Amino acid sequence: MTMLKNVEANPETLNARMGITGRVRFEASALGGPVVVLEHPRGRATVALFGGQVIDWQPAGQAAVLWLSPAARLDAGQAVRGGVPVCWPWFGPPGRSLTEGMAGTWPQHGFARTATWQAVETGDSMAGPWVTLALTAPAMAGKGWPGKAEVRLTVVVGETLELRLVTRNLGSAPLVLTQALHAYFHVGDIEETRVEGLDGHVFHNAVALGPALAISSTLNSQIGAVTFAGEVDRIYLEQRGPVSIVDRRLGRRITMTKRGSASTVVWNPWRDKAGNLGDIGAEGYRRMVCVEAANTVYDAVTVPAGGTTELAAVYECGPA
Ligand code: BG6
Repeated sequence: MTMLKNVEANPETLNARMGITGRVRFEASALGGPVVVLEHPRGRATVALFGGQVIDWQPAGQAAVLWLSPAARLDAGQAVRGGVPVCWPWFGPPGRSLTEGMAGTWPQHGFARTATWQAVETGDSMAGPWVTLALTAPAMAGKGWPGKAEVRLTVVVGETLELRLVTRNLGSAPLVLTQALHAYFHVGDIEETRVEGLDGHVFHNAVALGPALAISSTLNSQIGAVTFAGEVDRIYLEQRGPVSIVDRRLGRRITMTKRGSASTVVWNPWRDKAGNLGDIGAEGYRRMVCVEAANTVYDAVTVPAGGTTELAAVYECGPA
């Protein structure tokens, strides 16, 4: 595998190399950084090289499906709130087993979301136009993390939006990974929104227990759909089936189908926490919900030396 040392971020150069007329276009975003726009008669998506982050997805004839912070900037070196941040190579604060006895910097949700990714390949398939971005081991050097890996994100847009995150372990020891496709969805009103597909699953309630640094034996059980009347921060365990966000106000249903993940995270910070975060906007918490395809401490993945692992999610949006 070739190692990418210098990230090419000039839209003109990238278009000359990988642009596809009417389908794949690199451009400078008004948010301050290079993006790649994927266009298909059934939908359009924008992916920022900063963070390898999808920041917009608009199926034809629909309002934006993803929520993006009004404060989002691609050139501030800060994690962008909204779209689909990639949490990698760990989810949340890293688990205790990863950091034990180690010095280093352990930013929340890993360092992929604040790194600039390299666009490596584009194409146009039956499913729609696509781009693959990569983040390589040299980009992670010196951060305290013991692993050596490359991660590639492929984004495809057509009838649906699909994200595939593939990690290759370039080291000689097994790599323990937690990660998430931390999607923020735009909803009409959080109090008129429910999340289906989680009934009967046990969950780690991070509002009561704090973040999942280790497996807890104090778990709750979901009965019926998830509804919102206060902060919700939960990891649903052994959850592999489709999950739907049913939005009565906008009259639509967004469904996530995933692979390579047994943890589904549902998060809404509600008013007070959103106020402390500072980038959600007044009442912004009412317009968003996160439903995340994840591997957490409950289903951490061990990638053998030289091996790969894939986490993928397909999102579709239709009437409720
Ligand atoms: C969620 C976590 O996945 O991400 C929450 O479950 C966390 O605990 C949220 O608050 C947002 O994290 P951040 O670092 O983007 O503010």
